[in-house]
Amino acid sequence: MSQQQYKISREVVLGVGGGIAAYKSCELIRRLQDHGFLVTVIPTRSSLNFVGAATWEALSGRPVQLELWNNVHQVPHIAIAKKADAIVIAPATADLIARIASGRADDFLTNVVIASPAPLILVPAMHSQMWLNPATVANVEILRERGVLVLDPAVGNLSSGDSGVGRYPETVDIISAVESSLNHTADLLGRKILVSAGGTREPIDPVRFIGNLSSGKQGIAVALSAASRGAKVTLVLANAPEVSIEGVEVMHVQTAEQMRTALSAEFESSEILVMTAAVADARPSHMSTSKISKENLLNIEMIANPDIVQELGRQKSGQVIVGFAAQTGEDWIVKAREKMSSKNLDVIYVNDVSNGAIFGSEETTGLVIEASGRETPIKNESKYSLANKLLNIAIDKLGK
Ligand code: CTP
Repeated sequence: MSQQQYKISREVVLGVGGGIAAYKSCELIRRLQDHGFLVTVIPTRSSLNFVGAATWEALSGRPVQLELWNNVHQVPHIAIAKKADAIVIAPATADLIARIASGRADDFLTNVVIASPAPLILVPAMHSQMWLNPATVANVEILRERGVLVLDPAVGNLSSGDSGVGRYPETVDIISAVESSLNHTADLLGRKILVSAGGTREPIDPVRFIGNLSSGKQGIAVALSAASRGAKVTLVLANAPEVSIEGVEVMHVQTAEQMRTALSAEFESSEILVMTAAVADARPSHMSTSKISKENLLNIEMIANPDIVQELGRQKSGQVIVGFAAQTGEDWIVKAREKMSSKNLDVIYVNDVSNGAIFGSEETTGLVIEASGRETPIKNESKYSLANKLLNIAIDKLGK
């Protein structure tokens, strides 16, 4: 079975230009890491007059390459350019801005810049006269027209003793520029989120099982969304295609009993459980080791499976539980509300699955119901968008 790979956008290249503000990027790299980014630093030769390569290696925990002509067999400028989800150059000097605007590739950093399709964010810091020089103004205009995000330098005291425009902007402003370029926020950093997905299968005999149509897509979207927001995620996945999501621990299960064991082990240490899995409500009382003949298929004895989320709902000690309900028929909302209260859920997402709608599709339409009574309709939204909304609601409820 081929494996579906999901990557989280958090690889940042930090280019450092030769200005006194280079020391401020030592703080920037730390804050980028706090926000869940992994940073590779590329200092220019002249920046080493201000901050040495050893500092960048120690802060980033990664080797620092200065020259294009080292490790040539690995084609490092292309490898780094491909891996980058964003390139931030801080401080961006007048010279670096000019070289990038004219498409030069005369050192390692500018080679990476020109070879990468990743969003480019320039953080200028220089003397006011250099920033206001018509050549710099024209270069900045060219870059902005090309879609490069050039931040405005701050106003204040400059290292020359003058004051004016040209100061290195606040670190928080640089971080929010990186986050919005990448559509990445680390608001769930350090949170532990447990997700179930897929549909359980209850074996009848070596060739048959009781199963359902769940594709696992909604739960995978929740795991992906939570991980990309910095959470520590465990995904208990039943009978869905193999997935690999950076930063997500995937536990594969088949039956309801296996899912119950996996979720019970993780629940206590989790803060949020999102229970998207379709759990078979019953199973054959025993699995036949040989294939059952067709005459005997009508006599299979069934027993009830545990209601996993109801059990966990009883054990809650501060966790927020989000359940799902796939309903058919006119009273689908009423039934969903009943499920929310009987299973002690904080939130339930219900969709009307008459005629097989939703299963396997990329989009979803339904209603988010909160225990507080608030309802949010969802119409033809991606499962990822719903995942984000449910996580927002769950985080809001944590600690209340
Ligand atoms: N659920 C569970 N264990 C079960 C059945 C359901 O944990 N044995 C969870 C599902 O993962 C979902 C929620 O309960 O989050 C509602 O599932 P649903 O199948 O709609 O509810 P049931 O209680 O099985 O009700 P019914 O099938 O009768 O509609």
